[in-house]
Amino acid sequence: MKFKSVRGTKDICPPEIELWQYLEKTAVELLQDYGFSEIRTPIFEESALFNRSIGEDTDIVEKEMYTFTDKKGRSLTLRPEGTAGVVRAAIENNLLVQGSLTKLYYQGPMFRYERPQAGRYRQFYQIGAESIGSDSYWRDIEIIAWCVEFFSRIGLDGIKVYINSVGCTECRPSYRTVLQKFLQENSSQLCVDCQRRMVRNPLRVLDCKVETCRQVVTRIPAMQDYLCPSCLDNFQNIRQTLQKENIAFIVDKFLVRGLDYYTRVVFEIKSDSLGAQDAVAAGGRYDKLVKELGGPEMPAVGFALGVERVVEVLKKQKDGGLPEAWGDVYFALLGQPARQEAFNLIRDLRQSGLKVEACLENKSLRSQMRLADQYKAKFTVIIGEEEIEKGMAIVRDMLTKEQKEIKLNDLTSLLKELKLK
Ligand code: HAM
Repeated sequence: MKFKSVRGTKDICPPEIELWQYLEKTAVELLQDYGFSEIRTPIFEESALFNRSIGEDTDIVEKEMYTFTDKKGRSLTLRPEGTAGVVRAAIENNLLVQGSLTKLYYQGPMFRYERPQAGRYRQFYQIGAESIGSDSYWRDIEIIAWCVEFFSRIGLDGIKVYINSVGCTECRPSYRTVLQKFLQENSSQLCVDCQRRMVRNPLRVLDCKVETCRQVVTRIPAMQDYLCPSCLDNFQNIRQTLQKENIAFIVDKFLVRGLDYYTRVVFEIKSDSLGAQDAVAAGGRYDKLVKELGGPEMPAVGFALGVERVVEVLKKQKDGGLPEAWGDVYFALLGQPARQEAFNLIRDLRQSGLKVEACLENKSLRSQMRLADQYKAKFTVIIGEEEIEKGMAIVRDMLTKEQKEIKLNDLTSLLKELKLK
């Protein structure tokens, strides 16, 4: 019997995995450069954690969570995002100290029961970071600057940063009233879900994906016009600082995000190489969540990027996107004595950090040279019976096609030197 991967999930196989590893390595190095430390939290949590933080009336909680009851009757959920778990863990492990900043990053799979399509999966990977404990708008800037730097480091073009302010607990209630009134007047054009959202959580209508609702949204009064003086000031500071820092951005007055925990400035980073699912990263400030989840009153800001989407853009833009050179040395070996002689050299080279592959099977020289090409080796070492007798090996530079005879005893030191050049 043959099995297939479950709808909305996918295997990440070679050679694409190399691109993943490259992205993950670049992101982790850059996060560490920015002072973030890694945290790993469980893949499932109590369902109530997500209901509480993401919000009961969001699409994620209403329709998209993988929730199950365990053998003891507890309701558990596969994490649909990383922030709630990270905040829970930071509180539980006493990582948060009033008056100081805790900077954490994470990576791993998230789960949402969404309708699968290009760039949208039911299991997808995020790399994200949270700065907990500062209300300085410079921390918002730092997070956005990290994203911009990351996308530029990996050479992603056509990236745009969209920002908006969703206000705070001071100003949102008055906007909510205005919004409710407007939605009531236009309720005949809203979907069934939005008719309910309009009453319970009208801001969620801005995030609805149904076409008729989206049309209503284009006419909606903008949150910007209802911000309190403090949120207005914060939004202005962020816009001015982004400008001064030469970080291009677009104000999108309808940007609200699909999670309820946000306060003040939220952002999304989109790529013009993707279709409908064009957000490669997103985040914002969430000043109330830590307290809400039982921690001290601590403002925070964070983001997460979608690895599949970034990989997709890189593949499109970079003609496959895979790093050019892969292996350092390929050993083409003819006969048992050659394998006997070379195996120890290969272990030595691998120990010193070189990427080495060898043909340990009985194959013709011709097919071994083809394998060396596939491996994208910089050098191929050829050892046959004749070479063994002479105590020599042939070293071929795969780029210039030059060949040299080298003493077997000198081989490892020479290859290590060539690698350094
Ligand atoms: P989010 O916008 O829900 O935010 O997800 C962040 C990113 O994850 C998206 O921009 C997208 O690239 C990727 N993503 C989301 N859903 C899918 C999916 N079904 N398939 C593939 N990729 C997807 C959050 O998750 C927040 N926790 C971000 C955050 C951190 N805010 C503050 N701190």
